[in-house]
Amino acid sequence: MCGGALREFLDLGRQPVSDAFRAPDATDEEFFFRLAVGHCTECTMVQLLEEVPREKMFHADYPYHSSGSSVMREHFTRTARHFLDCELTGEDSFLVELGCNDGVMLRTVHEAGVRHLGVEPSAGVGEVARGKGIRVRTAFFEESTAREIAAEDGRADVVYAANTLCHIPYLDSIFRGLDAVLTGGGVFVFEDPYLGDIVERASFDQIYDEHFYFFTARSVAALAARHGFELVDVERLTVHGGEVRYTLARKGARPVAEAVGALLAEETERGLTEPATLDAFATRVAAIRDQLIALLVKLKEEGHSVVAYGATAKSATVANYCGIGPDLIPFVTDTTPAKQGKLTPGSHLPVVTPDRFASPYPDYALLFAWNHAEEIMSKESAFRASGGKWILYVPDVHLV
Ligand code: SAM
Ligand code: TMP
Repeated sequence: MCGGALREFLDLGRQPVSDAFRAPDATDEEFFFRLAVGHCTECTMVQLLEEVPREKMFHADYPYHSSGSSVMREHFTRTARHFLDCELTGEDSFLVELGCNDGVMLRTVHEAGVRHLGVEPSAGVGEVARGKGIRVRTAFFEESTAREIAAEDGRADVVYAANTLCHIPYLDSIFRGLDAVLTGGGVFVFEDPYLGDIVERASFDQIYDEHFYFFTARSVAALAARHGFELVDVERLTVHGGEVRYTLARKGARPVAEAVGALLAEETERGLTEPATLDAFATRVAAIRDQLIALLVKLKEEGHSVVAYGATAKSATVANYCGIGPDLIPFVTDTTPAKQGKLTPGSHLPVVTPDRFASPYPDYALLFAWNHAEEIMSKESAFRASGGKWILYVPDVHLV
């Protein structure tokens, strides 16, 4: 982002588009790219080294529906209420959301009768949001989109993006767009997986095509400053395996919360973006791969049944990096209709409906959707009661 030199610290090999689930009879050649990560030796930003064209990832058939998790539905309802109570209190307040997906957050804003617009390039999920009465523009947010929105709808008090900004390589254009569409006192609030959690938990599966950047308070503060904005607040979130919600305002427009200085100091103390820290992370990742494969091979040799749970985008990285195919895992269950009946990208594990999990229960289940562990383990409590064990690989390979 700043033009500084990138230093590679992790190579996760040839990887497919993580949400490109394949029809079993598909004959077209699968797209692969090199999934490698580096850090900027100037501004410390951590990012992928190869970019997948955005149209290959975000299109009419994008299968991820945000409302699939009850925990995430509650999280976004709370987020919307916070905006309604604290930011959208004017006569004609206006909120723009980037990557509104199926309307999981905007639903509450819409129901409160507050002016809003979702900007969502994936037409299928955007249509689901429209079905809830939400205003959606089918487009990639970038400078030109922002200028059009400002001309048609006026400026926004809040621009919000959850699990979306880190998907966007072209952040210069985004910031020029924010400048065009935000009111003088408006805020840009975004939340994404936090590099601090990824390094601490060795959650290397947060690294896949869609996650282009891995933010820290330090890299976000530097990014904001280059565009006339300022990081004014940060909040650690527990969702999706550990995230940070960053609040940006125009420089000088809002007081800077103490939490910003505290997180910056913590990152410095940990040496979070120091080469030695990132190299140690890469070493742990390789060890997890070796341990996970050894466990799956051993369970197979012992004659145990092992299936996988949750065909997450993250699991593409795990399956393809570790070489987990149908020989080790006969199927993965998932609640998403658009994924069922398909094969996982690259690794070609058949995706089946959740009822297959219980008929009969396997001996072991590899929990690809570990970020929803609490919700899933409580819903599937009969699995453990039947003697079944969950296999987890974050923060290390262990059984539950
Ligand atoms: N905000 C939802 C959530 O947190 O569950 C959806 C997150 S989903 C992982 C990322 C979304 O960002 C997708 O729906 C995708 O289509 C959208 N997206 C990708 N690039 C975008 C862009 N340039 N502008 C707006 N949305 C974008
Ligand atoms: P995510 O980690 O990107 O949110 O994706 C979660 C995936 O796991 C998504 O494909 C839906 C699936 N899933 C289930 O199959 N069962 C569940 O109970 C939950 C919460 C998710």
